[in-house]
Amino acid sequence: MGRTVSEEADRLQAAARRHLWMHFTRLGGYEDSDIPIFTTGSGTRLYDVHGRSFLDGLASLFVVQAGHGRADLAEAGRRQAQELAYYPIWSAAHPTAIELATRLAELAPGDLNRVFFTSGGSEAVESAWKLARAYFKAIGQPQRTKAIARHLAYHGTTMGALALTGLPALREQFEPVMPGAVHVANTNRFRSPFGPEVAADDDRLAQACAGAIESAILAEGPETVAAVFLEPLQNTGGCFVPPPGYFARVRDICDRHGVLLVSDEVICAFGRLGTWFGADRYGYQPDMLTFAKGVTSGYAPLAGVLCRDFLAEPFLEPGASFSHGITFGGHPVSCAVALANLEVLEGEGIIDHVAAMGPSLGARLESLRDIPIVGDIRGDGFFWAIELVKDPDHPEVRFTPEERSALVRGVVAPRLFEEGLVCRADDRVDPVVQLSPVLVCGDDELDEIEATLRVVLGEATTHLSLR
Ligand SMILES: Cc1ncc(COP(=O)(O)O)c(C=O)c1O
Repeated sequence: MGRTVSEEADRLQAAARRHLWMHFTRLGGYEDSDIPIFTTGSGTRLYDVHGRSFLDGLASLFVVQAGHGRADLAEAGRRQAQELAYYPIWSAAHPTAIELATRLAELAPGDLNRVFFTSGGSEAVESAWKLARAYFKAIGQPQRTKAIARHLAYHGTTMGALALTGLPALREQFEPVMPGAVHVANTNRFRSPFGPEVAADDDRLAQACAGAIESAILAEGPETVAAVFLEPLQNTGGCFVPPPGYFARVRDICDRHGVLLVSDEVICAFGRLGTWFGADRYGYQPDMLTFAKGVTSGYAPLAGVLCRDFLAEPFLEPGASFSHGITFGGHPVSCAVALANLEVLEGEGIIDHVAAMGPSLGARLESLRDIPIVGDIRGDGFFWAIELVKDPDHPEVRFTPEERSALVRGVVAPRLFEEGLVCRADDRVDPVVQLSPVLVCGDDELDEIEATLRVVLGEATTHLSLR
């Protein structure tokens, strides 16, 4: 006789506690609550081991663009696995990697024509930094090794990518991290290091934030800097939107100092901002573009770096090669799934849907401003954050780390989950609720997000006795 639903749930719960090492998780944090176990996905919804339904308001960590449970994407993977499950792209090629590289080159802005595939986003960032170093060595500028990134920005966890990640708490356990990464101001307008007057003026803010990059290049010595790594819209800290003109200035600074501009689009590509790429949304030409997550909508793992033609040139010389590779980079099944996913995003008008509906998601969130704990709302497309504040009349007063942990881990995160909304309440810095819904969400789902947030953030306000 088979197990009942609740026996199966108990069995999985016990086995997870005993054997599974969950990423970025306090393993001892489940004494009073169950580890969530999701078993099924369909469209915009997830179902847990008890059969409870949740709205996926984070696209399962910014990944599932086209929605859960799609037979066409599953079938694309199955077909490829049967035809050729695996062969590496080390000194060889297979059709799906060739077709996908070609398709990505067509879609990407300008002459980002060459694709180096990896299996995940950290490896893509790692590869971009390695390629920047190898390129400069090849053209006779071997001293260009450093890279600039922004405070709080998350660029991954492998040692190079970790050095770029601007969250000291993530680096601490592993110090000393790889040298050569320098962090500068991000485009946080709500808590700008340049003060409220500058923050209120697009032009001055763009100038100050881009200026911070130039100052770092000059301080390090321009001849030692290889690349600047920027997300189009910075995730960690809560959706820091670039002020108009910021990327044009950064592009100019990079050009003047001979530094490469890397657009880290692990989250922002493939429709998240209502365009194929974040660089399209904000109108700039990166020299490299790192992608991952949404390229396959999560039906198989894949990532990579798109490079401009000039970066590949030294490696086209007789006898030259980029001494770097990853066994599962460009896996045939993942590439087949990605090709099918890109077809779905285009054929079903999903990117245009986000461009059309993004402002309406923003407007729904803006309507929550009457809740005292809601301090700021920012974002673009289907990528938004709500920053929570301790004192609505004095948003500059910040939560202590203990207070924000109690608020987020004790109230906001568990209550959102109980109310059936999967999104992310982040207490690593000033507390934010992050939203990145599956891109096929329509009015009903956006209404549900707004209604759930109204309930939970209202309760969180009461918890703080703000009113
Ligand atoms: C901007 C950015 N870069 C890099 C990464 C690392 O990607 P992965 O987790 O696939 O290694 C992430 C992951 O969220 C990311 O958001």
